[in-house]
This record gives sequence, C-alpha cells and structure tokens, in this order.
Amino acid sequence: MSKRFYITTAIDYVNGQPHLGHAYEKIIADVIARARRSLGQEVFFLTGLDEHGQKVQQAAQAEKKNPQEYCDALAADWQAFAKKLELTNDDFVRTTQPRHKEFVQATLAKLNAAGHFYKASYTGFYSTKEETFLTEKDRLPDGKFDASYGEVVELKEDNYYFKLGAHQQWLIDYIEANPDFISPSYRRNEVLGFLKNNTLEDLCISRPLARLNWGIPLPFDPEFVTYVWFDALVNYASIAAAHPMLGLWPADIHVIGKDIVKFHAVYWPIMLKAMGLPLPKQILVHGWWQKDGAKISKSTGNVVDPITVINEWGLDAFRFYVLRELDIGPDGNWTDEGFASRYDSELAKKLGNLLNRVLSMLKSYRKGIVPARHDELAADAAKAADETRALFKQSQLQSALQSIWGLVNRANKFVDETAPFKLAKDPAQAQRLDEVLYNLAETCRVLAVLLWPFLPGTATKIYAQLGLQGSPDKLDAATWGGLQVGHAIGEPAPLFPRKDV
Ligand code: ME8
Ligand code: MG
Repeated sequence: MSKRFYITTAIDYVNGQPHLGHAYEKIIADVIARARRSLGQEVFFLTGLDEHGQKVQQAAQAEKKNPQEYCDALAADWQAFAKKLELTNDDFVRTTQPRHKEFVQATLAKLNAAGHFYKASYTGFYSTKEETFLTEKDRLPDGKFDASYGEVVELKEDNYYFKLGAHQQWLIDYIEANPDFISPSYRRNEVLGFLKNNTLEDLCISRPLARLNWGIPLPFDPEFVTYVWFDALVNYASIAAAHPMLGLWPADIHVIGKDIVKFHAVYWPIMLKAMGLPLPKQILVHGWWQKDGAKISKSTGNVVDPITVINEWGLDAFRFYVLRELDIGPDGNWTDEGFASRYDSELAKKLGNLLNRVLSMLKSYRKGIVPARHDELAADAAKAADETRALFKQSQLQSALQSIWGLVNRANKFVDETAPFKLAKDPAQAQRLDEVLYNLAETCRVLAVLLWPFLPGTATKIYAQLGLQGSPDKLDAATWGGLQVGHAIGEPAPLFPRKDV
C-alpha cells in the first residue's frame, strides 16, 4: 500500500456564498493536487464545509430555518461551486456528517480518558465572527478588540479545557527541527515568536448547551457541545479514517489562510500529539486578497464574485490570474484592469496567438501534416519542463507559471527570428520551414503538458487542436519528440477570444 499524497483546504463556514478568497485557496490546492498527479503520484484532495458553531446557528436563526436545513441548502451551492472551479477533490467533508461526528466523539472520549481535559469556570470574551475565545491580553491599546472580531461578548460559564501548556516546549522544538513544517518561513517565525514569548493558555473545547446547541455533544457530559474549532480541525483526520484502505494520514499539506495559522500550527499539532498521531508534513499559508486596495466586504459592496468572472472570461482565465498575480504567502490586490490586462497580454496575445499561428501555418503550408523531427527548441523545452517539475514539488506555483511563460516567449521569438511566412515563399527553404514548424508544434505540445495542472481546459484544447488523443496530464509526456512525422493535426480555434476593452 503506497502512501498517497494527501492535501486539504480549510473547510469554509457555511454562512454565506463563496467569494474570491475561498476560490483562491481551493484553486491553490487543486493545482498542487493536479501537479502531483502529473508527477505520477497518487493523490487524495479533500475540501469541504465547517457547519457547526454559533456563527452558523445565528445565520440559520436569522433566516428562521433549522440549522441542518440551512446548511443543506447552502452546501448544495458550495458543492456546485467546487464543480464550477473544476476542483479534482476526492471527497467533500461536511462536519454534520455522521462519519465525522462519530470520529470527533471517539477522539474526545479517548483524550478525556487519558486525562487531557479538566472542567473549570471560564471568564473571558468570545468573538462569534471568528469563533474564537479572547482574553484581556487581546485588547488593543485603546481597550477595544480589533474590529475584525466583530461583536465580542463577555462570558462567565463552566467549560472543559484541553491542557496545552504541557506541550509548549515540545512544539517549539518540533517547529525548529522541521523547517518546512510551516511555510512561508515568515509565518513560521511568527509562530515561533508567539510560542517563545507567551505562555500558552489551555484551550476551551466546549460550549454549554444552554448557550449553543448547534454542535457535537461531548460524549462524557451531555450538558455541553464541542467547541467548533476542535470539531473543525479534526476533519482532516476523520476523513482520512473514513478511507482506511488509502493510508492517508499524516496529511502532506494543509492549505490555509493567514488568519487561521494559530489554530493549525499551535492547537492542531498539540491535539494530534495527544491523539497519538503524526503531524502533517506542511502547513502552507496563503495571503489575503483585497480589491482595489480595500478589504473585501459584502457590506461595502467591495467584492469580486468568482462566478460572474468565470462566466464572463472563462474558468482558466480566473485560475491563471489568481495564481500568476499572487505568490503563496503575501497579500494580493485584485483589480479588474489587472485581470483584463493579464488576459489580453499573457493568455490571448502570447499563448493563444502562438498556438493559433503555429497551427494555421502547419495547415496552410503543410496541409496539417507534422514534418520530420527537429530539435532546435528541445533544450528550451527541457529547461522549462525540468524547472516546472522541481517547482511543482515545492508548491511554487507562480514561479512555475513564470518558467512556462519563458518557453511561450521563446517560441514567439523563434517565430519572429525564423519568419516562416517568408520561408514559405521560397521553395529553396522548404527544409528549413519543415524544421521551424516541427519545433513550434512540438513546443505547443510540451506547453499543454506543463500547463495542465493550472489550465486543464486550455491544455486539453491544445492537445485536441494538435490532433492528439487523451489528456496532457502526465509530466513525463513533456519529453521532447512526442509529435511524430506524418501526424495530422486538428482544427485551430482561438483559445482566449480577444475582448474589446
Ligand atoms: O476560517 N483572501 O472559515 P472561513 C484569501 N471554518 N483567503 C481568504 C479570504 C480572502 N479575502 N477570506 C477568507 C474558517 N479566506 C474556518 C476554517 S479549517 C479546519 C476551519 C480564507 O470561511 C481563510 O483564510 O472564514 C480560510 O483559510 C478560508 O478562506 C475559509 O475561511
Ligand atoms: Mg473567516
């Protein structure tokens, strides 16, 4: 039984419709999953929904629905959204599913029996918006809590606690010994700074039923439900356990946003240690999108609706923009002008035109028949393929796109240098024209293979227009020389229709 490459996303709160930030994270994970499959690995890609907690309960109440009905209706929208993004997820977790709830309860029972919990009275503050406990230490210098927490209420109630403090030094040592555990490195340094300069407070893992009923009941005390973050984090392990034949745990990558690092890099590792499970190999932290330099917010109307963009420009243009514009780590800024400009210059003019020119020339000069192999661009193609392979293994998606466009640019320059439309006018240059056309057509084929994880629809179209069967979904096929002499190409058609802007 070979270990599968197991990659997850954060599970989204099901209290509204998906937005740009959710789409971005899922596309990152999908491209990494496809890239690993292209490298020949077996992959399991998990995404899904976080359905419990006060935030969801309140959203359901506001619509006068019972929480399960409310979640069921929205879950259908989110699953349709995953399809719209052409995510290749192998499962879709909803934390209200029995398979997950039973695993959470078994975990809680085990940890309780092993003495990891105690009951105590809690005084502190709670942010429903971020489903997080706050203390006096979280107040800003002016005495208020940061606006991102929304309404913060004071709580005085009995609860169960998970002893975190005992594991603090172990976690520091683990992060220091495993430099790739938290990526990028500046996020790792933030976590280490936090752990070294603060004493970890024990984690409240329950809510009294009187206050919140939309949660998983504690197996050892019917007066309480499970704190939503404890429930949510466990999804990565509960779904691994739901596929016992696949040997999924430990996860290879958890893709998450910068706001939930503490939950994944502090609480989750300690939970796993207490559960006796190995830690995930990597927590890969992406930044946040803004639009036009301001926070994305429904209330101000400063939003990007991924579905509208996809319907207007196509899915691959959307997938391309978010990964080409923003490296995994820093924050990004969406502008409609920037989007249109990358579409026009990089997709339509550079990639789309290249394919269209090459196929049209092959059609008109050689009746669509591939001439004998010639290797003038072979080294450029091999360089792009080798770089892409190495960058895929490091989840360096933006750099991989830059390397692939290096080959696109090289091929366009080759057209300019060799001027095949002039060669075609001179019968004495027939051999040279054959050479040029082979190099260009084969480069387009290699590009389809390299692009497949990012732009699966476009890559498949390139293959079809080249008259090739199947899907360019294995990186090994990027080896130069795949097009055979005498092969008949298909019909050229624009990949990225030009827009009048
Ligand atoms: O935090 N740009 O759910 P969530 C980029 N249920 N990413 C963004 C973003 C933006 N503007 N806004 C949100 C939760 N995200 C929990 C997770 S995991 C066990 C439980 C990202 O719906 C955010 O950083 O609030 C997070 O990774 C994901 O969307 C879901 O956020
Ligand atoms: Mg959030």
